[in-house]
Amino acid sequence: MRKQKILVIDDENLICWSFKKKLSGKVYSIISADTGEEGLRLFEQHSPDIVFLDNKLPGIQGLEIVQKIKAQNEETIIVFMTAFGTIETAVKAMKLGAFEYINKPFSFEEIEVILNNINKKIQLDNEVQILRRQQKSELTFDHIVGQSPSLKRILHMAKKIAASEATTILLLGASGTGKDLMARVIHNESSRSSKPFVTINCASLPETLLESELFGHEKGAFTDAKQQKKGLFEIADGGTVFLDEIGDIHISLQVKLLGIIENKTVRRLGGTADLQVDVRIIAATNKDLQKAIIEKTFREDLFYRLKVFQITIPSLKERQQDISLLIAHFIDSFNIQFRKSIKGISAEAEKHLIKYTWPGNIRELKNVIERAMILETGEYINIESLPIEIRNEQIPVSNNDCLSNFQIPEKGFSLLEVEKSLIKQALQKTNYNQTKAAKLLGISRDSVRYKQKKYNL
Ligand SMILES: Nc1ncnc2c1ncn2[C@@H]1O[C@H](COP(=O)(O)OP(=O)(O)OP(=O)(O)O)[C@@H](O)[C@H]1O
Ligand SMILES: [Mg+2]
Repeated sequence: MRKQKILVIDDENLICWSFKKKLSGKVYSIISADTGEEGLRLFEQHSPDIVFLDNKLPGIQGLEIVQKIKAQNEETIIVFMTAFGTIETAVKAMKLGAFEYINKPFSFEEIEVILNNINKKIQLDNEVQILRRQQKSELTFDHIVGQSPSLKRILHMAKKIAASEATTILLLGASGTGKDLMARVIHNESSRSSKPFVTINCASLPETLLESELFGHEKGAFTDAKQQKKGLFEIADGGTVFLDEIGDIHISLQVKLLGIIENKTVRRLGGTADLQVDVRIIAATNKDLQKAIIEKTFREDLFYRLKVFQITIPSLKERQQDISLLIAHFIDSFNIQFRKSIKGISAEAEKHLIKYTWPGNIRELKNVIERAMILETGEYINIESLPIEIRNEQIPVSNNDCLSNFQIPEKGFSLLEVEKSLIKQALQKTNYNQTKAAKLLGISRDSVRYKQKKYNL
């Protein structure tokens, strides 16, 4: 984790010096200013977490500085130091948003007590945030439903990557295949899970807005920048940033993104300080990035940096065997959501769902089940509750159905005649293409050739 930055604003050099001497180290880094003006300048430049602020200063006074700092960044913690200790001024400072005040002269034991309290508050704030987040998302790898070999393979890899130190992950896959779900699960199952998971859709914002969302901005960086604002990379410090639809991010931002990945620092718009951030970036897209590189809309260097750990989620069509499991999973979850007690799906309806091509992948399947559960009045989802395009899907009759429907007539029949007739039909159907006919019948081409000769077809 990054060090906490403390800014000391005091015209007594000895005070600034003592802070540096006593506190600089692994936990804190100290910067100082001996006037209010200089203090505000450093504040804008370095965005400290904590400010120790003297009341009596040569130029601009302590109370005014409290206001200015709070106007720029509400979250900054200010400790107000007052030498000529009128309690009224301290109270005013607290009303303006200071966290604590301390009377001069003070000992560093007192400062340490205050810093401990500050850290307790920060920890509590974080815990509240974490609890809120946990309520929203308890997703784990067990929530990614599927048993197909292709899904198992990527889950195996995703588990390894989640537990690793990898700071960039690229998720590829068609729309609705579960990239969003995978990104959340990877975060939740990583050592970063207690830190924020921040997500942004790169296609949803115009370039300039996206830039200030990602990197933050200083007050006055552009016309509408009335307040200083932290960027998502700063907010996510210690956690994960999910950049959805990375294929749509403007080329100029791609350069900046690469900079963050390589240097692990971020600079706010209009700012001069490089702030250290420790984030894992998960980028997702359903676009063909290699094509985008050729078309010069995606940077090759960024692509290779992102793709070190790449997970490609297969489309639903490629893992038909997961469909039944997913149907059961969605029925269970919609039963809870809609307070219904649908028991399952009819064999006929399920067959249609398995046969369908699912251009919208799992999202489409989920929507179809949701719709069916709303429409269904019986105990099982029936074909009538499915959308027309799925109902119209032609289901080939399988061998087993043929056989189960076939009844041997009472007076018997000639198996050879039936065989001859079936071979003839297969050959006619395929324009006498022996290979195709063999496929239709599930026998070898040699057998077809032999039987064609035998029955003189
Ligand atoms: N394997 C899975 N098991 C259970 N639910 C899944 C699975 N994969 C996806 N889902 C669900 O399907 C829906 C669509 O998934 P998701 O939003 O993650 O897809 P996506 O790849 O991000 O799509 P897009 O490219 O359109 O953003 C979500 O409700 C998600 O929870
Ligand atoms: Mg998505």
